[in-house]
Amino acid sequence: MKINYVAVIGGGTMGNGIVHVFAQNGYNVQLLDQNEELLKNALTTITKNLDRQVKKEVITEEVKTSTLSNIQILTNASKLNKSTNLVIEAIYENKDAKLELFKMLNNSMPPEVIFASNTSAISITELGAATRPDKFIGMHFMNPVPMMKLVEIIRGFATSDETYDLIKTTAESLGKVPVEVFDYPGFIANRILMPMINEAIFALYEGVASKESIDTVMKLGMNHPMGPLTLADFIGLDVCLAIMEVLLDGYNDAKYRPCPLLKKMVAANKLGRKTGEGFFKY
Ligand code: NAI
Repeated sequence: MKINYVAVIGGGTMGNGIVHVFAQNGYNVQLLDQNEELLKNALTTITKNLDRQVKKEVITEEVKTSTLSNIQILTNASKLNKSTNLVIEAIYENKDAKLELFKMLNNSMPPEVIFASNTSAISITELGAATRPDKFIGMHFMNPVPMMKLVEIIRGFATSDETYDLIKTTAESLGKVPVEVFDYPGFIANRILMPMINEAIFALYEGVASKESIDTVMKLGMNHPMGPLTLADFIGLDVCLAIMEVLLDGYNDAKYRPCPLLKKMVAANKLGRKTGEGFFKY
């Protein structure tokens, strides 16, 4: 089987990037989101990012045009293409919301369609067990998707070798580097990254240093391209909190407790770039 028709569910920070890379590499892509305005925003972001690639001479104007012509937007799941071979979910990091969506898709889509989740930390095994275990897999892209090479490919307990091989090849066809990971909370990327970000937030909360100083230490001292607080704003503080909660719940180890300041900022809807303010203002 070859994948050529892809449906992406959720066109936010990650979804629009996933649509971008698939469409740029010749796949027919449908993007489903909750309303027209969100879809329009996603298309505007994709167009802006393609314009930047043209300006930097990474792609030609023709590639930009063909990429956009490969994308179709929709608000109703019943309009998903009958030829769809792969569904990639990139909705909010909320297990119940993801389960509800996948159960609905499982009832309406043919059994051979592969389901993938871009979840940062939620169990692929659990999402798979509720739907089609052998055809369910984690496809964890990094932000910003068009720029970042890595894709963690997460094998759930029952993911078949056939599904894994096909998704690995598909990731490679996008110019990405897939890495095989087994299904434990946070996988690899967030199990290592998120406790570091959470610790930076604790350092701020305890008054150890200013937010600027904390970011400068990690940038100049560890050669990180971006400080942890800037990175948290970039990822979205709601996403960071959701990942810490999955780690705490999954390992039952207090070292993963989310910092009270992170919880307070999410409660105040200061989610980072996407709301215009997090640790920094945008
Ligand atoms: P986001 O909040 O920017 O976008 C989520 C989108 O999903 C929104 O446009 C929303 O309208 C849509 N949506 C929600 N429920 C829906 C439904 N039932 N049907 C259709 N559309 C629906 O979220 P973001 O940051 O793009 O995250 C998406 C997923 O990717 C999450 O699971 C997150 O953990 C994961 N992720 C996020 C990264 C990041 O840096 N933000 C990095 C890697 C993974």
